[in-house]
Amino acid sequence: MGFATLRPVNVNDIPRRVWLEISLDTLTGNYRKIAAAVAPANVFTVLKANAYGLGGLPIAQALAKAGASGFGVAEPYEALQLLPLGKPVQILSSILPDEIGPMVVAGVILPVTDFPTARLISEAAARLGKTATVHIKLDTGMGRLGILAKEAPLVIRHIRLLPGLHLEGIFSHFPFAYETGSELTNHQMDLFCTILDELAGHGITFEKRHIANSDAINNFPRACRPPFNYVRTGINLHGSFDSAGKRTLNVKPILTLKTRLTAIRTLPAGTGIGYGHTYRLHRKTRVGTVSAGYADGLPLALSNRGYLLIRGSPCPVLGRISMDYTAVSLESVPDAQIGDEVVCLGGEGVHALTVEDWAALKNTHPYEIICSFGNRVERRYV
Ligand SMILES: Cc1ncc(COP(=O)(O)O)c(C=O)c1O
Repeated sequence: MGFATLRPVNVNDIPRRVWLEISLDTLTGNYRKIAAAVAPANVFTVLKANAYGLGGLPIAQALAKAGASGFGVAEPYEALQLLPLGKPVQILSSILPDEIGPMVVAGVILPVTDFPTARLISEAAARLGKTATVHIKLDTGMGRLGILAKEAPLVIRHIRLLPGLHLEGIFSHFPFAYETGSELTNHQMDLFCTILDELAGHGITFEKRHIANSDAINNFPRACRPPFNYVRTGINLHGSFDSAGKRTLNVKPILTLKTRLTAIRTLPAGTGIGYGHTYRLHRKTRVGTVSAGYADGLPLALSNRGYLLIRGSPCPVLGRISMDYTAVSLESVPDAQIGDEVVCLGGEGVHALTVEDWAALKNTHPYEIICSFGNRVERRYV
């Protein structure tokens, strides 16, 4: 048979080596638990950074079906991807001058972080013959973006006079809401309420008022009650929590990172394993080479410390994790075969590996773990 008769290989026909299973049922279950916990407040689902790296569109589709009332994103590129779902899409952080026109045309809800931004949005709306829906962003203590609390009443009264703006919402953000009883967090809510009262005295009210993130939902019930009538949740949707603080919600992890066993060798005592030979076999050992490494999101800190699951058994990591491969001891799984599925993160039962476990090992927080799965890792929605 000549080469010309062979069918070209389609890249999508080749099974991927490493994949992240994302349980959409668990995701929507988490969403419903959050919604029930904060009701009658509504929930904005925060899908920044491509839904924390898991895939903005499929996650948003599932959440929309489950009744999510809108999506929060960080920037225009993310916003445009979600607009076709027909739900309100809101940029939560900042908007650059040259991004304003296209976003007003598209109907994305914009943050007003200062008076000049409000004026630019107003001018764009006038130029385009549109009304731009905006949420005023207050800096009540985050120190990142927004109108400073002490200036807010006056600045907002001036913003109110600009044409072409629908001041639908007002919001702020917490830096410490994981700390139950944090004074700053309570002070931020007091400031927010004072600003609302002062503005109400001038006839300025907002349909949507929000400050709670996942931390606050778990640690500050006050942030989910009037005058606040929306919350913004991201990490709890994934079944994870900030490293510190209470875990009031009974949300479940949605992720399992899997790969396959690519080699099995019995190596003699004294063999050095991987870069730097940071591990040396004490005795003859059955060593497996697993097809995932730090390029896929395995923390380098798992080197010589963590384990992966093969056939339900924990297999200790031997030596340093490399870019594409990780060596493990197969002593606890004598029946392991090349091609076996390997669970790197997730799994069931006592040996299940959580995002929080990896975060603790890596000395980081769960957000960084969730956002750090590699590009070549296939996202599979199950
Ligand atoms: C403004 C804003 N609101 C809400 C969230 C959601 O935070 P979390 O994932 O902790 O719920 C974020 C995320 O960093 C944010 O920046």
